[in-house]
Amino acid sequence: MIIAIDGPAASGKSTTAKLIAEKLNFIYIDTGAMYRAVALYALKNNLDISNHKNLIKIINSITIRFERINNENHIFLNNIDVTSEIRLPEITKLSSNIATKKIIRDKMVEIQRLLAINQKIIMDGRDIGTVVFPNANYKFFLTASIETRALRRLNEQLTKGIVSNLEDIKNDLIWRDKNDSEREFSPLIKAEDAIEVDTSNMTIEEQVKYILKVLQGDIA
Ligand code: CDP
Ligand code: CDP
Repeated sequence: MIIAIDGPAASGKSTTAKLIAEKLNFIYIDTGAMYRAVALYALKNNLDISNHKNLIKIINSITIRFERINNENHIFLNNIDVTSEIRLPEITKLSSNIATKKIIRDKMVEIQRLLAINQKIIMDGRDIGTVVFPNANYKFFLTASIETRALRRLNEQLTKGIVSNLEDIKNDLIWRDKNDSEREFSPLIKAEDAIEVDTSNMTIEEQVKYILKVLQGDIA
């Protein structure tokens, strides 16, 4: 049983996926965290990602796994917990660039499919409904206006004690939307059979409630 959730940054994918997973007792997999972990590896090892040899080196040197610790998902890169480190702003941009590389995507998709074998999975990302699991039982494509998404990210950073500026966040999001949507391999795009949910004017509770209704067959 697979639920795929795709959409641009800050559309509410991970918050929704986490809460649905708890309610339905599914395993939640954040595939964005995987691309972020790969970016962290490249950065730490000073590997220029425009060099194909370095990409081969990366896929042959990394292991990625998830572990549940105190009810939170943690991601391990080569057995080191990198859950917090992968959220640093310099990793965000690099993850979007590294995600354009086919050899990296193929490796991530292979891991993602293995994780789902014999499991009830809710997975979020950019290509879950289109490429990773084109036959997923349910597919959702979350969207929200750029203003809403930028404000959400600003608030998120404020709660973490990071001072940032709305215009910079907005520009970063616009850049990433474009980079993710216009890439050659597995671009960010709504699967034809995905249900689109515009969360601009929805609270997290409303968003979760709507998706649960679809899953229960109350909304076609
Ligand atoms: O959390 P946020 O929405 O900021 O980003 P993320 O989900 O952590 O993903 C970081 C980057 O990884 C995205 O901008 C995409 O370029 C890439 N990604 C991808 O290409 N395919 C996925 N399935 C998930 C993420
Ligand atoms: O995973 P994705 O990048 O799509 O978004 P997220 O991390 O789930 O949500 C980004 C931020 O927006 C989080 O701080 C959420 O709590 C917040 N959010 C919100 O305030 N209202 C919503 N309807 C959805 C998310």
